[in-house]
Amino acid sequence: MTTHSPILVTGASGKTGSKVVAALSARGACVRAFIRREDAAPALVKLGASETVLGDLYDDESLKTALAGCRSVIHICPPMNPDETSIAKSITDYCLAAGVGRLILYSVLHPLMEDVPHHDHKMHAERYLVNSGQNYTILQPSRYMQHLVPIWNMVLETGIHAMPFSAKMKFSVADLHDLAEATAVVAIEEGHDNATYQLAGPEQLSQTDMAEILSSLTGKDIIAQAKSLEQFEADARSGGMPEARLQTMLKMNAHYDSHGLVGNPNVLRWILGREPTHFREFVTRDLLTS
Ligand SMILES: NC(=O)c1ccc[n+]([C@@H]2O[C@H](COP(=O)([O-])OP(=O)(O)OC[C@H]3O[C@@H](n4cnc5c(N)ncnc54)[C@H](OP(=O)(O)O)[C@@H]3O)[C@@H](O)[C@H]2O)c1
Repeated sequence: MTTHSPILVTGASGKTGSKVVAALSARGACVRAFIRREDAAPALVKLGASETVLGDLYDDESLKTALAGCRSVIHICPPMNPDETSIAKSITDYCLAAGVGRLILYSVLHPLMEDVPHHDHKMHAERYLVNSGQNYTILQPSRYMQHLVPIWNMVLETGIHAMPFSAKMKFSVADLHDLAEATAVVAIEEGHDNATYQLAGPEQLSQTDMAEILSSLTGKDIIAQAKSLEQFEADARSGGMPEARLQTMLKMNAHYDSHGLVGNPNVLRWILGREPTHFREFVTRDLLTS
């Protein structure tokens, strides 16, 4: 396999995957995007994917076919998938069998939080990979700044930045563009074998800190508010959220309410070779200029 061999990206049509595809393509990598819907292909080709392959993470044969001949695989699992561990184990086995140079597992900051199911699933996936003999890089990204995007209009209308956890707890929020860039750098560069990298944003911010930044940037009074878990549950049910996802979200938000989610930004800074994007810069770039 050569550096011209493709890099397979799973979850390619998702929020994270599409940005990773774009970041890889911008650096000249040959990208094979794994998709489960034919209609996702044109957008990915537009982002620079060299090829798309149709398959399903639950269809072993489609996975084996997709990763054959790849120099690396970047596995980005759908969020809060109850089968995340078994899917990752299968991909690890197939990478080993096919002689894939490196499996890059897109995990999460602090997978050791065993009270949060999807962190725990990623932890088991990491453990299996590390013990497998397959060359790997594990990426542990923090909570995205982009969680603000879908509620932005409501924040502006109401002057309330509400999340279902304490407004005082701190989070090392990270910019998804930075995380995609870091993923691409790690995939293309040599020297990241058998590494586990925490990818945390550069500031520890509470919802209150973020609301203060939003107020100063918009000139409007914006306050942070903790939405109760009961209210979150009622809203999620009326919005039709599947039960398994709802239960996972409740556990995640309960953990956030007690602990927040903080990490250290040094590794992200080192990989990017620059200061990671600050919250203020993200808001200005993505929300105030559109
Ligand atoms: N959000 C955060 O703050 C954060 C922080 C750290 C880590 N992460 C991790 O980032 C990862 C990606 O999250 P995201 O929000 O980018 O996900 P997303 O936007 O929901 O995208 C999920 C992707 O998976 C694909 N997919 C779903 N089921 C599939 C199946 N059975 N077979 C093949 N493909 C399938 C979807 O395809 P379709 O387009 O066809 O649906 C889509 O491309 C998750 O593992 C999450 O835990 C997120």
